[in-house]
Amino acid sequence: MIKIKSPEEIKLMRQSGKILAEILKKLVRFVRAGMSTKLVEKEAERMMQEKKVIPAFKGYYGYPASLCISLNEELIHGIPREDKIIKGGDLISIDFGVKYEGYCSDMAYTFAIGKIDKTQRHLLAVGKEALRRAIKRVREGAFLGDVGFSIQEFVKKEGFFVVKDFVGHGIGKDLHEEPEVPNFGREGEGVCLRRGMTLAIEPMITQETEEVKIKEDGWTVVSASGKPCVHFEHTVAVTKRGCLILTN
Ligand code: MF3
Ligand code: CO
Repeated sequence: MIKIKSPEEIKLMRQSGKILAEILKKLVRFVRAGMSTKLVEKEAERMMQEKKVIPAFKGYYGYPASLCISLNEELIHGIPREDKIIKGGDLISIDFGVKYEGYCSDMAYTFAIGKIDKTQRHLLAVGKEALRRAIKRVREGAFLGDVGFSIQEFVKKEGFFVVKDFVGHGIGKDLHEEPEVPNFGREGEGVCLRRGMTLAIEPMITQETEEVKIKEDGWTVVSASGKPCVHFEHTVAVTKRGCLILTN
């Protein structure tokens, strides 16, 4: 069952998302080459306490941390570690969710540490633009197939690949609610959107192949090509004429 949120619930989700976006923005500025991913996690925990929000990922299906920090060929679900050091030339994605007044928000952002090559710059731009295009398709009466199609078509045209093994999701009191929000599809197919639905849209984009593998830690998802990949995510609420980006 897809839960429709009332205007009051959306207000709370907007507050949740605003706090999340603020913390993530600060984290992006905090990150430096030479830091461990665990230090970034610690800084996030400090800021969550300050803002009185609860991490949404910690303990979710047994996930052991508050952030997912994925470097280079790692796509999603990288577990912060003391011995994982961020270095110049890395692509780093931080995926982060919080709970505020009972409502979750979820967001991911990928960025470069220092100098990166042209292909990586292109990949980052394509990831960002894919999410932007997907969000533009969201409105009452549109289909999730329209949203997925817009991502897939654009990414393919730019020479990259859309991961199909992982998808976006509905979100609210639970981090993952119905429906699934695939980053692929056909126009006019899938769930028809209604006002008050809240969705986490999260394109995951790889190079050379859409295949992914899971590392020995049982969590970290890596590109089978071993090449850097990107992940961008926003939580949005469907409105009559478009959508509201809640993680702004
Ligand atoms: N943003 C991701 C998602 O929506 C990460 C959460 S998975 C967790 O699926 F298990 F790590 F919490
Ligand atoms: Co998500």
